[in-house]
Amino acid sequence: MKKIQISPSILSADFSQLGNEIKRLEDAGADMIHVDVMDGHFVPNLTIGPPVIKTLRKNSKLTFDVHLMIAPVHKYIKDFADAGADIITIHPEATDNLKESINHIKSFKKKVGVSLNPDTNVSIIEKELENVDLVLVMSVHPGFGGQKFIPNVIEKIKILKKIKDEKNYSYDIEVDGGINFSNSKEVVNAGANILVSGTTIFRENNGNIKKNIETLKEV
Ligand code: DX5
Ligand code: ZN
Repeated sequence: MKKIQISPSILSADFSQLGNEIKRLEDAGADMIHVDVMDGHFVPNLTIGPPVIKTLRKNSKLTFDVHLMIAPVHKYIKDFADAGADIITIHPEATDNLKESINHIKSFKKKVGVSLNPDTNVSIIEKELENVDLVLVMSVHPGFGGQKFIPNVIEKIKILKKIKDEKNYSYDIEVDGGINFSNSKEVVNAGANILVSGTTIFRENNGNIKKNIETLKEV
């Protein structure tokens, strides 16, 4: 069995009970918490921002894996760092200067992630791969939970794994969107070591999140 980590997306949680939902995920064996931040501009949906993350942060020891789908992202990085994000992931299209935004995240001693939309090629971030802790491969068009996995991103995961091995880079490869019990194995075999999941974790097996986390790990 391969060592993989699960980062449940709270986008599918009960928003009226977010603190309890995070506790439930922690007890169920989640490795981190994936927080989807949306601005109604970079993506056609709105979610939560730094004040909510700050409040949730107080009740959990888990790593907060914060996925910023906001543009322009640069000026908000400090707010998310101060709110308690551990990993801050940005999209290259959301900043004028990717290198500067990466260094800005690092200046707060946070881990840096860069995310690739389904139609964005690895080449756009290739120069920065040696400087990042994580690459988040989107396997749906960002904006909503519950969408269908786009199979041609498998090729992109393989490219990222190949570059990582050849150059001896250390970034994690995280995949986000439409992950289920049928496609998780292929995603991991392609090179992913972190899986994000909202719908599968919160809805399968009548919402038995412990079982769903365990099943996603059985690859
Ligand atoms: C989509 C988000 C994802 C999404 C995952 O924009 O980035 O994190 O909520 O949810 P599922 O697992 O339902 O596709
Ligand atoms: Zn996400």
